[in-house]
Amino acid sequence: MIDGRTEKRVDDSRTVMTEMIMPNDTNPLNNLMGGNLMRWMDVAGGICAGRHAGQHVVTASVDHVSFSSAIKVGDVITIQAQLTRAWGTSMEVYMEVFAADARGRDHRKANHAYMTFVALDEKTMKPTSVPSLIPLTSQEEELYKSAARRREIRLILSGRLQASEAKEVKEFFSAMK
Ligand SMILES: CC(C)(COP(=O)(O)OP(=O)(O)OC[C@H]1O[C@@H](n2cnc3c(N)ncnc32)[C@H](O)[C@@H]1OP(=O)(O)O)[C@@H](O)C(=O)NCCC(=O)NCCS
Repeated sequence: MIDGRTEKRVDDSRTVMTEMIMPNDTNPLNNLMGGNLMRWMDVAGGICAGRHAGQHVVTASVDHVSFSSAIKVGDVITIQAQLTRAWGTSMEVYMEVFAADARGRDHRKANHAYMTFVALDEKTMKPTSVPSLIPLTSQEEELYKSAARRREIRLILSGRLQASEAKEVKEFFSAMK
């Protein structure tokens, strides 16, 4: 039980981070360096997962990240992080990054990513259980459902699951036939 609850809602941990891109965040073309953006995403995602868990968390994995729109010096970015699902000790966080100029114009989505965080007990430093998540809206339900498939894929890629045991992935591909 955490805060007297074993279940939490998405809004309990939703996290928004805003940053203005300064010259020392950029590459020689005056665009935000991808590594700096990933660092902020890691921080925003970790805050979100930590709020849900009520514990310290570590980053276990980062899924595919692609940069669809360049972010320029002087732009303002907003990172929106929300929990999609929690399992035993791990949680998946979905992040969307939006950019606009400093006057709020040219608003655009710059990228999105999924990251997995694991809660650690601060005494033993071992993974510790987290509250489950209750999805309420249709967007939350869709992310919750598809999280099972993404989890299987990342566990296969990290050598923790045999592809033959990946039930959700199998169902997904057989539905496409
Ligand atoms: C992530 C970590 C805590 C997992 O520890 P472990 O001893 O392998 O623990 P477990 O096998 O019990 O796994 C714990 C959870 O992590 C999940 N996990 C482990 N590796 C994972 C990966 N690569 N991707 C997604 N989830 C992963 C497991 O599925 C499990 O989740 P569940 O309890 O919800 O089912 C450990 O590998 C670690 O501390 N890694 C370093 C984290 C870190 O320092 N991050 C910052 C990088 S600089």
